[in-house]
Amino acid sequence: MVRVVFLSENDGAIIQTSGLTKKYGDFAAVDGVDLSIKPGEIFGLLGPNGAGKTTLISMLCTTVMPSSGSASINSFDVVARPGDVRRNIGIVFQEQSLDDRLTGRENLELHATLYGLDAATASQRIASVLDLVELKDKADALVRTYSGGMRRRLEIGRGLVHYPKVLFLDEPTIGLDPQTREHIWAYVKDLAKREQITILMTTHYMEEAEMLCTRIAIIDHGKIIALGTPDELKSMLGGETVVLKLRDADTPAVREKVQATFPDAKLFDGSMVLSVKAAEKEISGVLEQARSAGIDVLETSMHRPTLNDVFLKLTGREIRDEKAGTADAMRAFGRMHRH
Ligand SMILES: Nc1ncnc2c1ncn2[C@@H]1O[C@H](COP(=O)(O)OP(=O)(O)O)[C@@H](O)[C@H]1O
Ligand SMILES: [Mg+2]
Repeated sequence: MVRVVFLSENDGAIIQTSGLTKKYGDFAAVDGVDLSIKPGEIFGLLGPNGAGKTTLISMLCTTVMPSSGSASINSFDVVARPGDVRRNIGIVFQEQSLDDRLTGRENLELHATLYGLDAATASQRIASVLDLVELKDKADALVRTYSGGMRRRLEIGRGLVHYPKVLFLDEPTIGLDPQTREHIWAYVKDLAKREQITILMTTHYMEEAEMLCTRIAIIDHGKIIALGTPDELKSMLGGETVVLKLRDADTPAVREKVQATFPDAKLFDGSMVLSVKAAEKEISGVLEQARSAGIDVLETSMHRPTLNDVFLKLTGREIRDEKAGTADAMRAFGRMHRH
């Protein structure tokens, strides 16, 4: 199995786990996770539904007790010092958890009270957080009147009222439209930089993880199966691919020709997928070879690896919850990766 080397020195880590495990009966939802995350990182947990992302984050937030192993936030152990851990973290979870009947400002006030901030400190921080999440103008409107994106910004703001060192974002953009998602993430990225906050986020939108995260852990069945920068992870796949849609790809005759001409190619769903170093440069040569071998090419496309390809390579499955169908796969092949 391909494995990206983990950081071995733990000096200066703000989030640290060692053999962190959560079992429900015999089933390990999180299974021996070792992490060392530095201050200021935007660290992504990427994995399909049920991989154990929320359980892992919940242990770090002290709301789920580990079965074994250990974890600390800002060097406070999550089991021994849960109060200190909580003061150091902000949480934005999957489900929306605002009170609709209150205004944005009132929601933040409620949170400040829960954290025991005195009135003067609270009002000053709330003002600065509202500014930060660009909700100053809407602060005194009922949350009921907010758009999805505004609600999420308010929730992120709420996670920040007590000035946490670490912010946990568990699928914070799920169900939002792409434009709002983009706004939220641009905002989060900027925030991490300006306020020196460490962010641990989960998402199964791979493009988001790729765009935002300084490092990513790919998690499957409770285990980290790969860890590295987005580029490191993608370089595991060794470059780009050329995809040729073939006439009669499923017939033995064509298969034989493909195998003889391109021994390293994979046949997939009526297409031949070939790993190359630089697709754009090599595609004409590949087409020429195919033509000489009498392989009838219907369509060509080029593809740069995505994190989904990494996941596919490591697990043999798609990262998305729904099993991605042919149409999806072809769409993915069809576009060059944006940067
Ligand atoms: N309280 C629980 N009791 C039993 N099983 C659980 C519980 N919480 C989560 N699980 C199981 O643990 C696995 C991981 O869940 P979760 O952490 O929510 O995954 P993810 O957030 O990656 O979708 C799933 O199979 C889920 O059904
Ligand atoms: Mg989850």
